[in-house]
Amino acid sequence: MNGYTRNFREVFLSTSRKENKIKELHQEGKTVAQIALYFKRNHGRSIPGPAIRGVLFPTQDYEPTIHDVPNTVPITRAPRRETPQRTVKPKKSLPKDSYDKEESKNPDKIEINKLLAKLVKEQGLDNTKMVILESPSLLTLKELTNVGIQAHQIHIPNHTESFEPIVRKHNNTYPITLGEFLTRTEVAHGNKFGFIFADYCGTLDGSTLFSPIEDIKTIFKDNLIKPGGLLAVTISKRNSKKPNKYINNDVSRLNHIVTERAYKNGYIAVDLGHGRDYNGKMHFVVYQIFNR
Ligand SMILES: C[S@@+](CC[C@H](N)C(=O)[O-])C[C@H]1O[C@@H](n2cnc3c(N)ncnc32)[C@H](O)[C@@H]1O
Repeated sequence: MNGYTRNFREVFLSTSRKENKIKELHQEGKTVAQIALYFKRNHGRSIPGPAIRGVLFPTQDYEPTIHDVPNTVPITRAPRRETPQRTVKPKKSLPKDSYDKEESKNPDKIEINKLLAKLVKEQGLDNTKMVILESPSLLTLKELTNVGIQAHQIHIPNHTESFEPIVRKHNNTYPITLGEFLTRTEVAHGNKFGFIFADYCGTLDGSTLFSPIEDIKTIFKDNLIKPGGLLAVTISKRNSKKPNKYINNDVSRLNHIVTERAYKNGYIAVDLGHGRDYNGKMHFVVYQIFNR
């Protein structure tokens, strides 16, 4: 239990209704500041921002940031503490981003992003929540907003040093991995995404920090994708331990894990036929997910 949660529980232990109301207002898209104001107006007493965040993000080791909540303003501490306004930042320095910036100039990459935005629009998913992996050039975000999708619908986890430049331009950015975002944030819970772009730069087996296979399992096990929604995945086929060697069976393994997990959880994953290799090592594929 983190400090925020503990403080909140001490003061409001018997008021689970308040906790429920906080969650409900958050689901409606209210910011921490707006939730605090709601309690001030309706119950004559505000709730400190950190206490609200403790209810929304009660995990132990994940230090929530201001960016967890869409369109938030800097947290103001409770007035009696007389501490100036501050923005909560991730404590630890984030790992280096291995993504090659030049890749966002790759014509295939540009084409893939345009294709995905077009598919999202054509499939009537343009009013849904979306989660995408992004680099600071925000190529995918730009294409999605070009077809009329509102930026606040789009959520970007990025656990690397790229978090900072991204969050400066896009509010709904989280300093965590996609897997952590899917399993540990309130945004992912109870919200089915219309579009998930797991645009990894590494291999299907991932790294010590994240696992694409586990992410795919979570998406289906926790029913995180809307029926009719799109799941796009990019993996690298280059063997990171032997850079001159390529992994021959990962495309098939990826297809297997998506279709098998979908089926086992009551869905069908249809490969839309846009899959392709590009840049010598990357493989991209997009599925549409239906109820079985
Ligand atoms: C391939 S880039 C995204 C490119 C962007 N979609 C585009 O088309 O230009 C992926 C970004 O997400 C980050 N990333 C990779 N795997 C991740 C994961 N499992 N969770 C969060 N971020 C991840 C990378 O460090 C990189 O900054």
